[in-house]
Amino acid sequence: MMKGLSGRHILLGVTGGIAVYKSAELVRQLREKGAEVRVVLTRAATQFVTPLTFQSLSGHPAPAELFDSTAESAMRHIELARWAEAILVAPATAHTIARLSHGLADDLLTTLCLASSAPLALAPAMNQQMWCNLATQSNIDQLRGRGVHLFGPAEGDQACGESGLGRMLEPEQLVQRLAGLFSEPCLDGVRVVVTAGPTLEDIDPVRYLGNRSSGKMGYAVAAAAEQAGAEVLLVSGVSSQPRPKRVECIDVRSAVEMHEMVMRRIPQCEIFIAAAAVADYRPVRQCKQKIKKEFFHLRLELERNPDILADVSRLADGPFCVGFAAETERVAEHAQTKLVAKGVDMIAANRVGQSGSGFESNENELEIFWPGGGVKLPQTSKKKIARQLIELIGQRYKQPER
Ligand code: CTP
Repeated sequence: MMKGLSGRHILLGVTGGIAVYKSAELVRQLREKGAEVRVVLTRAATQFVTPLTFQSLSGHPAPAELFDSTAESAMRHIELARWAEAILVAPATAHTIARLSHGLADDLLTTLCLASSAPLALAPAMNQQMWCNLATQSNIDQLRGRGVHLFGPAEGDQACGESGLGRMLEPEQLVQRLAGLFSEPCLDGVRVVVTAGPTLEDIDPVRYLGNRSSGKMGYAVAAAAEQAGAEVLLVSGVSSQPRPKRVECIDVRSAVEMHEMVMRRIPQCEIFIAAAAVADYRPVRQCKQKIKKEFFHLRLELERNPDILADVSRLADGPFCVGFAAETERVAEHAQTKLVAKGVDMIAANRVGQSGSGFESNENELEIFWPGGGVKLPQTSKKKIARQLIELIGQRYKQPER
């Protein structure tokens, strides 16, 4: 079975072109490779083939309409958009390519392309003149510039009797290209524990000390590790992020709880990635009742929390340890100091306390250090940077001399 596609959630968009007959075969081949497939048709596609064909092949309804009162919830585009791990539009007509390049959302397929953060791939299929038309080419350039993947088109005889560029790739080629979208399983079978989010340190039943971590980076790292083939446990502080697919998640609140959970599970893992923003201090006393404002001054006494990362890296026969360093100034210098002080194998430093990157943001830039080396990952989405980080961790973890 093709490792890259096994268990993957593939959303296939089918638009109205004669190549739809190949899409039916594509669904069959994707399922053979172990992928779960959901199909969405455009209205024009239903002129060539009925939704029932795709429903029978995929095992799920193949809707065309954005608004469907029979759906359990009227939010179908959001559910499907979240479910998808990759979207492939095959065939992609000139018209749908134009709609996508302009960000239109006038049917279910285009709406969920906009609503999904999954990689989008197009398999164009059209008359060669339509493909060569500058309008189509400029739409294609726009889409490429946004990171959309183009599969084909191929050259050859066309249904219209002409010959040239515009044939849709064959199903087996599309399956290959789609599998290539999923990163090489560089952590195949490796057990990874990731901490994420903030820890909250209770003062009384209604108040706590917290920080501005959203959990986005840690969740993205957990998802990227899973996609790289790892078995992942995510120990998370309070976060509203959606849980990554196929990742075991344990919720904790305080640093002490996170420490306890990590120490319990660390003996069964090979890599530890500490992305949580762990509170360094907790209140010495937690009041049972809400503190009343009786006094003019209130002194809150704090004590040190355990350092989870340092404790794990101190373990004899411990895992490969990766830390994060959240810094507001002298990022590289502080990070390198932490690399040594905590005795970790790698540290990913980011600047926090500025807008556009770090806490709460969807983007990040990282400077990564390991003993004797380092690399800078320029600003991009947290999802992308998480994949790059996992790639690096995979390489370092496998280095014999470390
Ligand atoms: N960390 C941890 N347990 C703690 C504190 C930090 O596991 N009690 C981990 C974080 O998850 C991160 C790394 O240590 O991977 C560095 O965290 P950071 O807050 O940047 O540094 P601190 O060690 O807390 O040092 P300081 O606050 O003095 O910068």
